[in-house]
Amino acid sequence: MSIEIKTSRSVPAKSDLLARVVTTEEIANNPPDLDTDYLSSQAFEAKEGQIIFTNGSSYSTALIGIGEDANASTEKFRQAGASLLRGIKNFKSITFEVGESDIAKENKAAVIQAFLEGAILGDYEFTALKSSPPKPVKRTITVLGSGSGIKSAIARAESISSGVNTARDFVNLPGGDLTPVVFARKATVLAKENGLSVKVLDGPAIKKAKMGGILGVNRGSTQQPRFVQLTYKPNKSNGKHIILVGKGITFDAGGLSIKTAQGMATMKCDMGGAAAVLGAMIAIGQIAPNAKVTGLIPLTDNMLGGDATRPGDVLHIKNGKTVEVLNTDAEGRLILADALSMASRMKADAIVDLATLTGACMVALGSQYAGLMGTDDDLISAIENAAQQTGERVWHLPLPDEYRSQLDSNVADVKNIGSNWGGALTAGLFLKEFVSEEIPWAHIDIAGPAFADNAWGEHPKGGTGFGVRLLIDLVENF
Ligand code: BES
Ligand code: ZN
Ligand code: ZN
Repeated sequence: MSIEIKTSRSVPAKSDLLARVVTTEEIANNPPDLDTDYLSSQAFEAKEGQIIFTNGSSYSTALIGIGEDANASTEKFRQAGASLLRGIKNFKSITFEVGESDIAKENKAAVIQAFLEGAILGDYEFTALKSSPPKPVKRTITVLGSGSGIKSAIARAESISSGVNTARDFVNLPGGDLTPVVFARKATVLAKENGLSVKVLDGPAIKKAKMGGILGVNRGSTQQPRFVQLTYKPNKSNGKHIILVGKGITFDAGGLSIKTAQGMATMKCDMGGAAAVLGAMIAIGQIAPNAKVTGLIPLTDNMLGGDATRPGDVLHIKNGKTVEVLNTDAEGRLILADALSMASRMKADAIVDLATLTGACMVALGSQYAGLMGTDDDLISAIENAAQQTGERVWHLPLPDEYRSQLDSNVADVKNIGSNWGGALTAGLFLKEFVSEEIPWAHIDIAGPAFADNAWGEHPKGGTGFGVRLLIDLVENF
């Protein structure tokens, strides 16, 4: 996987493929520069998802359909880029033409950015653990056009996609390889490379900071926990500060409330929130928005060693509240409780957490939608708008006061599970206990979209990096 992106005013001599995005109207109008007899013989109408290759004397052409002009969106260009890169094998030098849709004429930079994001994300493969990985194909994409708008669209697409692909790499690494210590070490290197400051708390420091949630989850493990704090400080500040929090369970066996073999099989993905925060922070370091951003990443695995937290044990969270652990598999909320307590002590305009938190959210929304909960309507709308821009799907769920009593405990302030139903909501209500009421807060449950059992959209099987783009967009427009 390696794509170099350039610009040019005309198709370069060595280009072997011209990729052009087309609408159904364009094809129906029989454009003179296309072999429309051939297109109709192949039933190519430029419907969304249709793609056709034709041979020419100096280069081939790929026409990528995005459906009707009236429904065209940047997301369709992102999907066009992804399906092109998935569909080609041998073409090395691709020239990209945005085509004639209204949106391409009105907002050329945005559609170029989206197409390139799709291309880079669609080209992703995780080969780090193959004994003889295929040699990565080096490709060039030349964008037809010129000017600073296009140049910055290219730079943004490169930064954003590299953030997403980093998150995917982290999720795809097995829990036995990407331990909390290794995660923190890799994150430190990446943070420094991208102009972020970084602070890592080790086990004793986490103890000193009284993060009893992380310590309680870590108790059944031989791996040391870590707490990573990343900071981006803008040169020209708009005075805003956003805190991003990511669940970093490097492997979730469930603890003594052990998962089934099937339930455990993909649980290396349980640091998907942490990976998304890291990926977003890296891209934010490159894009340099005007808000200050802090990333908080609590890291441990959830194992069942001899001294593992027992059902019934009570943990002391950083904000002083006590939690009766009645199911050790509801561990993500315990480490987030510490991180949210810490975030609540900082001066911030918003706190957003991302977590592969509940199977219940997957039951409700399936594998492509994240559940969105929160305490502030403006922040919820800002996240919905960001998701609309980036093509990541979120769905607003309630935090019902009526269900709060499900978390009442006989012995402690709260217990870590509710009743059998509405598990995504009671998880959200649990987190709310650890957030300052003065700070707008949102929680995004990415249990469904963080990991793809089957390829969808711009994602191959495995880690998707879901949330990275959304967080970047949110920060940029905050
Ligand atoms: N990491 C899981 C949630 C999860 C499930 C993420 C499937 C991705 C895919 C989480 O720690 C968990 O086990 N949650 C429990 C909570 C329950 C015990 C209240 C669940 O959802 O079953
Ligand atoms: Zn769990
Ligand atoms: Zn978990």
